[in-house]
Amino acid sequence: MRFSWGTLILSALLTVTIVQGLDYRRPTKVLTKCCKRVSNATIPKITAYREQMAFSPCVEAVVLYSDKKQFCTDPRAPWLPESLKGVPKIS
Ligand SMILES: *[C@@H]1O[C@H](CO)[C@@H](O)[C@H](O)[C@H]1NC(C)=O
Repeated sequence: MRFSWGTLILSALLTVTIVQGLDYRRPTKVLTKCCKRVSNATIPKITAYREQMAFSPCVEAVVLYSDKKQFCTDPRAPWLPESLKGVPKIS
C-alpha cells in the first residue's frame, strides 16, 4: 500500500518535472530569429543584406533589409548578384 502511494507521488512529480522542462524549452525556440523558408521573389530598394548559414531549423539564406523589413531570400535566386551590387553587407 505504502509502496504504491510512493510510486504514484513519484510519477506525479516526474510528470510535473517533464511538463516544466518542456515549458522552459519553449522561450529559447521563440527567440531563434532566422529564416526557416526562403523566397525567390525580387525585393525592391535593398538597403543592406546578410548571409545566413543553414543551422537547423534555419536554412541557408540571404537576408535582405529593405525599409526596416527583412526578407528571406534564396541564395540561388538568379536576380540576386546584380541587385546586391554596391549594397553594404552586414556580418
Ligand atoms: C529559386 O531559384 C533557383 C534558381 O532558379 C532554384 O534553384 C531554387 O530552387 C528556387 N528557390 C525557391 C524557393 O523557389
